[in-house]
Amino acid sequence: MTSPFRFQIEARDGRARRGRIFTPRGEIRTPAFMPVGTAATVKAMMPESVAATGADIILGNTYHLMLRPGAERIDRLGGLHRFMNWGKPILTDSGGFQVMSLAELRKLTEEGVRFSSHVDGSRHLLTPESSMEIQRQLGSDIVMAFDECTPYPADERTARQSMELSMRWALRSREAFGDRPGHALFGIQQGSVYPELRAESAEKLTAIGFEGYAIGGLAVGEGQDQMFGVLDYAPGMLPEDRPRYLMGVGKPDDIVGAVERGVDMFDCVLPTRSGRTGQAFTRRGPVNIKNARHAEDPRPLDPDCSCPCCAAYSRAYLHHVFKAGEIIASMLMTWHNLHYYQELMAGLRRAIGEGRLTAYAAAFHAQRAEEDI
Ligand code: GUN
Ligand code: ZN
Repeated sequence: MTSPFRFQIEARDGRARRGRIFTPRGEIRTPAFMPVGTAATVKAMMPESVAATGADIILGNTYHLMLRPGAERIDRLGGLHRFMNWGKPILTDSGGFQVMSLAELRKLTEEGVRFSSHVDGSRHLLTPESSMEIQRQLGSDIVMAFDECTPYPADERTARQSMELSMRWALRSREAFGDRPGHALFGIQQGSVYPELRAESAEKLTAIGFEGYAIGGLAVGEGQDQMFGVLDYAPGMLPEDRPRYLMGVGKPDDIVGAVERGVDMFDCVLPTRSGRTGQAFTRRGPVNIKNARHAEDPRPLDPDCSCPCCAAYSRAYLHHVFKAGEIIASMLMTWHNLHYYQELMAGLRRAIGEGRLTAYAAAFHAQRAEEDI
């Protein structure tokens, strides 16, 4: 019998792979981009609109949902999919990363992390065991191991201690996750920018055994050159036959470079957050809709885009509703950005399938150099 959760590689081009993750809630075409739905909503989007952009999976957050409205409540209401009306796969991050960036009065020990809620100041403890229990209550399809995202920069000694703690937590996560057919647990590689630590982390995770492997601790301020430096070797240390997920990445050119280096999955707040702050991503580069030069521009954001925003609304209109603080500005700009990201992923998948990823990446960079806006 084949497992209800399975990864199949359909094509390769250099180090890049095109494939499919099969889950009971549907297939995920890879390389995949996961829109971020932190608080049980992809901000400014109806779930059916998120699906219409081409997303096969979204990301949710343990940290936010445990604090509000609470994982037990979501469980009683039938799980996160039903609660937010998203029937396709959901991946949940495990909470540690968000605790370290959002919570107050944090205390990290071998056991886990104690912290105060950024919502109401209440005290909480997250451990590998409680994170697995919360993610089970949420009912996510892909569960992330509980880890510490090593801050950057970190000297090698600090990075080693942090990585080793994450690997002990990875084992506890695996044991606490138990047997949940149709649900997957992903381990998270740490090791900062140190090849030996990345290798050791990959060995430890592989020995434990996960359904997929994430690369953590990147996009934390090291810059694209250093991140690509790590991605030149880190994906190759992870099992070839499992999905590889680069957490929290990234800008369109980060994604193209990471796909070329063998990454299969991504998540980032950039398309949604930028949509709400007036930045649009286009084939020719970013467009800042706040800029006065758009005030009477009848053209769409991107003439080559087939999204509902570009089909019917001018830059002049978007500039106006953004300036006026109207909600539709966030709705239209977010839709366009998510559509742009999903088109980018579809283009990458097609190029890998046809063995022309290098040419696709070259055209991607050349077109962006045309930026005039
Ligand atoms: N999101 C971005 N980076 C990380 C990471 O290293 N660990 C986790 N859990 N989430 C992340
Ligand atoms: Zn568009």
